[in-house]
Amino acid sequence: MREIRFDRFGGPEVLTLHSDAAPPEPQPDEVLVRVSYVGLNPLDYKVRDGSSGMSRDLQLPAGTGREMAGTVVSAGSDLDDAELGSRGLMPGTRVFGMRAPGDPRGVAAELIAIGADDLAPIPDEIDDEDLPRWAGLALVGLTAIATIEDTARIEPGQTVLVHGGSGGVGQLLIPMALEAGASQVWATGRAANAERIRELGAVPVPYDTGDWEAEMRRATEGRGVDVVLDTHYHSTFLPSLDHIAENGLLVTLPTLADLTPAHERGVDAKVPRIKPGRDRLDRLVQGIRAGRYPLEVSRVLPLDQIAKAHSLLEHGHTRGKLVLDARA
Ligand SMILES: NC(=O)c1ccc[n+]([C@@H]2O[C@H](COP(=O)([O-])OP(=O)(O)OC[C@H]3O[C@@H](n4cnc5c(N)ncnc54)[C@H](OP(=O)(O)O)[C@@H]3O)[C@@H](O)[C@H]2O)c1
Repeated sequence: MREIRFDRFGGPEVLTLHSDAAPPEPQPDEVLVRVSYVGLNPLDYKVRDGSSGMSRDLQLPAGTGREMAGTVVSAGSDLDDAELGSRGLMPGTRVFGMRAPGDPRGVAAELIAIGADDLAPIPDEIDDEDLPRWAGLALVGLTAIATIEDTARIEPGQTVLVHGGSGGVGQLLIPMALEAGASQVWATGRAANAERIRELGAVPVPYDTGDWEAEMRRATEGRGVDVVLDTHYHSTFLPSLDHIAENGLLVTLPTLADLTPAHERGVDAKVPRIKPGRDRLDRLVQGIRAGRYPLEVSRVLPLDQIAKAHSLLEHGHTRGKLVLDARA
């Protein structure tokens, strides 16, 4: 079967498509899935270039990719028909999901074995044409839920600033913050993405054609916001400390973000941690079905263009999600 692997840490060119990989054997609690689409995330290139915490113990050669959509082929020995049926994961069912956080195996392959707990069925009414969106949903969706509910604990009436409102996580943070009761959400992004940010329900604050800091000072009359959700970090983390209201909170996404400057200034700052699980995947299904989470896929590339996809992703301006077609 076809599978993307890399045998050393480095640039996108280390990713190689192999067509001689052995199909995996599912463990007793795993399901064998024929992958249709693979969702890409910044974590993928951080693992590939060796800068992620996950790279430390990674055995090379390694696979790549964390989330996908596909079809159940068969299941491990603990999962008889009754068990699969109760989970809605019978062979032939279309599913989406992501690798559990501690599981280093990739998903960019024709066939993968993956924990049954890490999958949820895609509703029957969904068109196959819409599958790329489902492939890109699990990781950003579970991240956004963890950010809003576990880490920021957004409460009704709070004001929120999202950095990177049109990115993969940002496109879910905006609707979820509003769902949690935020009274007002602003979101930074390039002016080219302002309309998209507005559609998601936030007030766009372009950083390339204007001064986002001046705009936020004006909008909050110098008080700052209750919560900053910072998906960008690099050039936004430090200046954001000047735009947080008293007793406010800064949540930044990159796992290895240095929170010291915030703590030194007495500002509460945290990094969210994904909590996997079927209940949260099912909530994402409900949100997509109801039209509450209009996550956008900006580009679908064939599997053999994974190096190009990683280069695009590393550029840092992905709108919504980048997805690979594992069948092409
Ligand atoms: N802690 C966790 O468990 C966890 C989970 C998932 C992701 N993450 C991390 O979260 C980060 C974001 O992930 P993602 O999937 O959303 O990335 P993404 O899809 O690549 O989005 C990046 C966003 O950043 C915006 N951006 C770029 N420069 C900016 C600037 N100067 N100011 C404001 N926005 C800017 C881009 O918008 P424009 O094009 O408009 O600039 C784009 O929307 C990554 O570092 C990822 O590794 C952490």
